[in-house]
Amino acid sequence: MKLRRMVYATLLLFALIWETACTPEYVEAPGQTPAAQADPPKKTYADVIIGFAQLGAESEWRVANTASIKETAEELGIELRFSDAQQNQENQILAMRSLIVQRVDVIGISPIVETGWNEVFQEAKDAGIPIILLDRRADVSEDLYVTYLGSDFLEEGRKAGRVMAQITNGQAKIVELTGTPGSAPAIDRYKGFRQILLDYPEMRIVDSQTGDFTRARGREVMEGFLNTYGKAITAVYAHNDDMALGAITAIEEYGLKPGVDIKIVSVDAAAVAFEAMIAGKMNATIECNPLLGPQFFELALKVINGEDVPKWVPSEESVFMAVDAAEILPTRKY
Ligand code: AHR
Repeated sequence: MKLRRMVYATLLLFALIWETACTPEYVEAPGQTPAAQADPPKKTYADVIIGFAQLGAESEWRVANTASIKETAEELGIELRFSDAQQNQENQILAMRSLIVQRVDVIGISPIVETGWNEVFQEAKDAGIPIILLDRRADVSEDLYVTYLGSDFLEEGRKAGRVMAQITNGQAKIVELTGTPGSAPAIDRYKGFRQILLDYPEMRIVDSQTGDFTRARGREVMEGFLNTYGKAITAVYAHNDDMALGAITAIEEYGLKPGVDIKIVSVDAAAVAFEAMIAGKMNATIECNPLLGPQFFELALKVINGEDVPKWVPSEESVFMAVDAAEILPTRKY
């Protein structure tokens, strides 16, 4: 037994000596300096082509978002290939395929709805084109996009719930105007609001229907709510300011006072909401920041240059009440 162990130990020793003696030392090839092995030079904004597949122009928010992207590209001297899908997922998928064929360096996209992206995202990945989600998330595996730049929609819904409790003293019969069905903000603002309502048994949602994030649909749906429930409605929770403004028109036409007879809380914090608050027709708006152009291109350049970026870059957002609207309106940029 002892002899066998001694034999193994000797063999091991020989193997180690052999390995050390035969491993060649690293020798620099003639003319190969450390500088020649350095990383390739970093690209600048002037060297890149960036694609952006926007979902539409349905709201004040979206118009401000598009302007921020286009203006920032121009300021930075970036070649931007931009398309507007007019609220249609198929158009947005076609736009992505076109950007893949054009071999842009990065594709930015605000997915209109959460699902249905696996195939085209995989095509972009196979073509070596990174995807940055801007504003809205997509329900895909994390390896199909590099980062998401945008809001915490769930928290926006919670903030709306807390503010609603505050302005109604926890007692309300609420109608809800939801955003585009299947979209990330509509799903999360719906959920977040209900999480808060669990603590307020006297706050009830009487009805909830989509206004598709547009003023025209918000007005139509609110007309329907008023025809069905009339004066029983004491509050509106709108998933964006545009639908809230549509609801305000419907309430006035019905002969009630928006902001007084029916309290109104919405999301976005667009300048038009501040004007409505100053006029006493709306009570609060939760900020959702659309001015994402500068952060988007900064992230895109980092990604192109192989730098690490976080999987989620959240936007910083506040809550604005009617009482502060006049003071804050002049500082609003959208
Ligand atoms: O995705 C953000 C939402 O989309 C905004 O709240 C809404 O106004 C827009 O249409």
